[in-house]
Amino acid sequence: MIKGLGGAKTLSGEIPVRGAKNDVLKIIAGSFLFADTVAIENVPDIRDVASLLALAETLDARVERRGRSLSITAPQESAGHLDPHLAKSLRSSVVLTGPVLARYGAVSFPHPGGCVIGARPIDLFIKAFEKMGATCRVEDGAYRITAEGGRLHGADLFLDFPSVGVTETTLMAATLAEGTTTIRNAAMEPEIQNLARFLAASGARIEGIGTPTLTIEGGSALRAAGKTYAVIPDRIEAGTFLVLAALAGDDVTITGCRPAHIRALTALLEQAGADMTIGEDTIRIRATATPYHAVNVRTHTYPGFATDLQAPMTVFLTQAMGESLVFETIFEGRLNYTDDLKRMGANITMFDPHRILVRGATPLVGKELDGPDLRAGLAYVIAGTIASKESVIHAIGHIDRGYERIEERFRALGVDITRAVD
Ligand code: UD1
Repeated sequence: MIKGLGGAKTLSGEIPVRGAKNDVLKIIAGSFLFADTVAIENVPDIRDVASLLALAETLDARVERRGRSLSITAPQESAGHLDPHLAKSLRSSVVLTGPVLARYGAVSFPHPGGCVIGARPIDLFIKAFEKMGATCRVEDGAYRITAEGGRLHGADLFLDFPSVGVTETTLMAATLAEGTTTIRNAAMEPEIQNLARFLAASGARIEGIGTPTLTIEGGSALRAAGKTYAVIPDRIEAGTFLVLAALAGDDVTITGCRPAHIRALTALLEQAGADMTIGEDTIRIRATATPYHAVNVRTHTYPGFATDLQAPMTVFLTQAMGESLVFETIFEGRLNYTDDLKRMGANITMFDPHRILVRGATPLVGKELDGPDLRAGLAYVIAGTIASKESVIHAIGHIDRGYERIEERFRALGVDITRAVD
């Protein structure tokens, strides 16, 4: 339950950013490439981490967790069966398929779950595995993928779309494949770069990190040899906090972040009139006397505007003067949440599943809402914070998948928010 501020800008203080969900999940999957123990630091306390660790344990990985530190030791051998119930609970389970297939020669799994933001097929994963010499069968609703002779071989892959998950999965699989793999039209998100650098420091031969062409020379199991994987700050969390602060903050500083990872957002907020001071690892934002003005948003792969920041940014645009076009280019179901913003008083016209026009500024009024997915769920919390009257948001399990104890952290800034057991 959130008691709205009715447009007043009163939040103040500091809010630290936690480790990135989309980074930690990939190194948990990547630990299956290692012959020794992988130690991970700056691990956020979120539900998706718990789910993926539970899944890793069903594959006989040894997991030890102490606060924000984690260590994982993959088994020497495995049949590669991913527990269907756990695998369905999170999309990132699909990233585990690459390391497991490459290390043990076979993997079986159900169609992965995760946020309902469009069809989210896995055709590109399957196509890449097949090019790397694997055979894929679908039996009783589960995929069974086997590498011929127990080992994948290198291939020249061109991704039809620079998918984050496919880039990470094939990159990891290629480190243990026989021969050279080239991944063209690869995604370049900071989390992919962080993962690739760690793999390279652990014996993988990878060229082109941070570019759209990755070349990997396959070898035997990697060795962390005591090195620690430091999870990078969550850029989506940082960006979402920035939007909250822009709308409801008097003087707020976001700490422990990497502003360089959210330039597409800060450039747009600046264009809209936000008063920000951007440091090495902090962003301070102060209330302005003049209203914000409209800006157009087009989601894109990195370093473009992140699709995961589209919902919070749309809430921002409901409070900006003029007409803003939001073009969601990555996922086709990712604007459906705007119906609820309309119920709160936003003036939004949907042209097609990818494009909306937001006319601002309109005051928002608190409502009872169902959080539709992880990112839109938190956007509702922001909308509820700036609205007049009270908002009740259900299905906050989605938010807990990716954001650590959000209500405590928002309360520290002055948001009147409480969690009830529903
Ligand atoms: C990752 C992020 C997610 C973010 C998304 C895009 C994680 C855990 N999640 O998701 O937060 O929103 O990147 O930045 O890191 N596609 C296919 N076939 C496939 C795979 C993908 O058509 O086999 C399509 C998807 O449906 C989507 C597009 O490619 O339209 C991009 O998806 P992708 O980059 O793969 O996203 P994820 O890795 O799932």
